Amino acid sequence: MGTAPSKDKPFLSDIEEIRRRARSHIEKGAVTENYKADLETSIRVLNEALATEIVCVLRYKRHHYMANGIHAQAVAAEFLEHANEEQGHADQIAERIIQLNGEPNFSPEGLLMRSHSEYVEGKTLIDMIKEDLVAERIAVESYSEIIRYFGDRDPTSRRMMEEILAKEEEHADDMKTLIERIGKEA
Ligand SMILES: [Fe+2]
Ligand SMILES: [Fe+2]
Repeated sequence: MGTAPSKDKPFLSDIEEIRRRARSHIEKGAVTENYKADLETSIRVLNEALATEIVCVLRYKRHHYMANGIHAQAVAAEFLEHANEEQGHADQIAERIIQLNGEPNFSPEGLLMRSHSEYVEGKTLIDMIKEDLVAERIAVESYSEIIRYFGDRDPTSRRMMEEILAKEEEHADDMKTLIERIGKEA
């Protein structure tokens, strides 16, 4: 009793106050005073995810061309598909950083330091696939942590990262399937 929102009182908070705040800081775009996360941390974390994606693009591209060179067309095609999807993730993350009034870091300097995943070339086809699986597993773990950080503080970033996480899990599963298939052929 008494705690439920009544008809004349909005559920969340004073709508007039929300409108006033929205008008007074329009230069901040999507970032309102209600933004609960630490902006600097959010942007840093997203830039690490961005670096992770860029490193994944580069590694999958390398593997794509190398696999093509050894006539492993089906695997090469899968590597390229993943490279393109990682590029899509990088673009999504960069866009979100802009929405948060940050700057996406595309600098090659320190890229590997910012990235959670590694760039390993791998000598044989199976090596390449295994390295990609390791990188995906790293992404799955670190993105899960990022999602926990965003939690209710920044639901939009959280949802984006959840979508990306689901894709990385698919990628990991694809690599596992490839290892099984190629293991049988060998
Ligand atoms: Fe990705
Ligand atoms: Fe991936």
